[in-house]
Amino acid sequence: MHSMTAENLRSAYGGESMAHMRYLIWADKADQDGFPNVARLFRAIAFAEQVHATNHFNVLRDVAGPFSVTAGGGFGLGSTSQNLQGAIDGERFEVEEMYPAYVAVAEAQSEKAAQRSMSWAVEAEKQHVILYTQAKQAVDAGHDVTLGVVYICELCGHTVEGEAPDKCPVCNAAKKHYRAFA
Ligand SMILES: [Fe+2]
Ligand SMILES: [Fe+2]
Repeated sequence: MHSMTAENLRSAYGGESMAHMRYLIWADKADQDGFPNVARLFRAIAFAEQVHATNHFNVLRDVAGPFSVTAGGGFGLGSTSQNLQGAIDGERFEVEEMYPAYVAVAEAQSEKAAQRSMSWAVEAEKQHVILYTQAKQAVDAGHDVTLGVVYICELCGHTVEGEAPDKCPVCNAAKKHYRAFA
């Protein structure tokens, strides 16, 4: 694998891994603050980030060894409103800057698996921005967010609220591959 794509994948893996943990921590805080649906949203999306990290790791399976990984990681344990803003900022960065640049490099280097793994991730992150923004609006109005069942595709992390599609629009997985967070 070209070294620049490999480094970008490791950075994305690091970013997704930290997002996974950060959302679980912020989920516990949302429970403490009395927002169980926000907590459930954080846990569902934490699983989507786990799927992304897993896909990136698998693409890197033959690039073995110890590496120092440089990745953006958000820090801070604030109020649930502040944590949601942190989540929105991190997701926006991935959608608007990080993944488009990484996907463009992978494409230029004909690294098809890396391009696919990171293109799948960015489609989910777009939904995460929307769902976190709705959650923050509710919390800032003083109440929990209204939230149906959140479904996460176990293969690509595609995230949808309400009803799982018959086929994942991102990776074509069958409906049975969606994990429900109810
Ligand atoms: Fe995300
Ligand atoms: Fe999928």
